[in-house]
Amino acid sequence: MDFMKQVDNLNFQCPNCMIPLKKNDSSFVCRGCLKEAQIIRSVPRIDFGAFLMSESDFDQEKNTLAYSFYSILYGPLALLNLIAVWRGSIGKQLVHYQNSLELSKGDILDTAIGDGSLSALVYNKFRKKNEENKNRFCIGLDISPDMLRKAEVQFAPVVRKSLRFLLLRADAKALPFSDRCFNQVFCYGGLHSIPAPEKVLKEFFRALRPGGFFAGSVLLTPRGWLGKKLAGKYLEWGTLSNDFSFGDVEKLFISSGFTDLLLEKNGETLLIRAKKP
Ligand SMILES: C[S@@+](CC[C@H](N)C(=O)[O-])C[C@H]1O[C@@H](n2cnc3c(N)ncnc32)[C@H](O)[C@@H]1O
Repeated sequence: MDFMKQVDNLNFQCPNCMIPLKKNDSSFVCRGCLKEAQIIRSVPRIDFGAFLMSESDFDQEKNTLAYSFYSILYGPLALLNLIAVWRGSIGKQLVHYQNSLELSKGDILDTAIGDGSLSALVYNKFRKKNEENKNRFCIGLDISPDMLRKAEVQFAPVVRKSLRFLLLRADAKALPFSDRCFNQVFCYGGLHSIPAPEKVLKEFFRALRPGGFFAGSVLLTPRGWLGKKLAGKYLEWGTLSNDFSFGDVEKLFISSGFTDLLLEKNGETLLIRAKKP
């Protein structure tokens, strides 16, 4: 399907003024603050960079800068961290992600997709099993332009074979969508990275349709002296923004309104599924 027609079906709104955006040939414009989200057709991608908060969001800026370096070798380093520091099984995480995709119906917002190296494996398998899903929407969202540049190459072409897929640069703390747009919101490996996770969950809840579900994974505080020391360094550098315990994650989801919370330990990480009633 033509890219512009796909985009017509999405309910974009200004993340600051909360009013619908007006589409023109090359951008979406807010009539309130006059900011524009650029449509980059050659990729295709929509860039909400102009809507991101500036100086006031110091932690986010630190995180985005850290991911600009991390993006150079993200795949192997992230895998090493998961296995050696957080003692998680990549297989278990992939199966959880895969099952969430199999359970999903309708449109998906996949957030903090990073360079898409993990997601590409999962969506590739999904495509082979589910040829009938081609009319569904999937939005791959991240805030880091460097991570997204890599996702454009390795992740986007894979997903596009199974779903109508768009990459979006935007902030998960201020989603550029109207309420109740998606049947599923995913965030694998993102909640520990994004500063102010309570804002993120509020946004995920708002973007979900009633009966829809959240699925994802999160790193907890690792065990042992070395793990704790390394996690401390990652917090200092900004690749990690939150130090969660099991109880913190549970409270965060319940206080954001989610129900039917399923938390499964995978080493010192948590695999999560939760419903919007
Ligand atoms: C640990 S990586 C996870 C990547 C991928 N999902 C994976 O599991 O390999 C965390 C990602 O969160 C993104 N991120 C950080 N803050 C964000 C925000 N406010 N909105 C959207 N993405 C954000 C980072 O740019 C980074 O790509």
